[in-house]
Amino acid sequence: MASSTLLVSLFIFQVLFVTPAYSKLFREYIGADDKNVSFSDVPINPNVDFHFILSFAIDYTNTSSPSPTNGEFIAYWDKQNLNPSRISSIKADHPNVKVAMSLAGDSVNDHFVYFSPASINSWVSNAISSITQIVREYNLDGIDIDYEHFNADPDTFAECIGHLLFYLKEEKIVSFTSIAPFEDASVQQHYLALWSKYGHLIDYVNFQFYAYDKRTTVAQFLQYFETQSANYKGGKILVSFSTDESGGLKPKDGFFDACSVLKSQDKLHGIFIWSADDSKKAGFLYEKQSQDVLACKK
Ligand SMILES: *[C@@H]1O[C@H](CO)[C@@H](O)[C@H](O)[C@H]1NC(C)=O
Ligand SMILES: *[C@@H]1O[C@H](CO)[C@@H](O)[C@H](O)[C@H]1NC(C)=O
Repeated sequence: MASSTLLVSLFIFQVLFVTPAYSKLFREYIGADDKNVSFSDVPINPNVDFHFILSFAIDYTNTSSPSPTNGEFIAYWDKQNLNPSRISSIKADHPNVKVAMSLAGDSVNDHFVYFSPASINSWVSNAISSITQIVREYNLDGIDIDYEHFNADPDTFAECIGHLLFYLKEEKIVSFTSIAPFEDASVQQHYLALWSKYGHLIDYVNFQFYAYDKRTTVAQFLQYFETQSANYKGGKILVSFSTDESGGLKPKDGFFDACSVLKSQDKLHGIFIWSADDSKKAGFLYEKQSQDVLACKK
């Protein structure tokens, strides 16, 4: 009796405190740049959880002077390659693959995309119906929030996105959610307002570490990671780099050394890359390396 109680206690202790905090999550944005990239071009390691993130669905008209549509999203990614039947195939071939879509992004038809709701209720209602339709058509699993410019205050952003995420999860339309902030005063104000009220609805923080200066050092990168972990307290902050010309810590300058440090501290929750479109010409070298780092035991 006493010994079985002890065993149960030990088991509970182990589940609560000893299970390693790092996970094997690899995510990659795909489809924003019309580079004719397909899911099957990207190497997929069977020993990681792999998320493709379609870029982007945007609530703007597709015109030469695009205007906001108050939450009525349409898919702007490369739909030629990244279509429902290709999604079925890649998931059938790789049971560890899930597919998400990202909302908004930086720009559409060379104009900035602003978060511009007419009102909270109307935006949320339009967003729920248009997003549900796209998720069902493409059989998507998750959603990522990537507004980068704002025509509304932080509270309005928090309420709109919070209500949207609540509904999508409650109705099991998606099974995971993420946000993609970066270090900029306005961006952080909006996302931190969302985080403080609705952080419990957000599974991952795809922090855009590549929005920091070029030639970020390993030491600076680790400092930035701590700063953002404190900002998004309790969140799974994923580390990131880009394969385009943007800044941050690049693989050739020690990105994977920083990953090793975080891994040894049980803080490596996953890695994401912007973007498959940019990686295609170099043969996805760093996609392979990122997944190897995540897949191998400590
Ligand atoms: C797109 O890529 C496929 C191979 O993945 C190739 O067969 C096709 O010709 C390419 N199309 C263009 C327009 O480059
Ligand atoms: C936007 O319009 C262009 C030009 O007509 C077209 O090639 C593209 O497929 C359209 N995109 C969407 C998302 O409708």
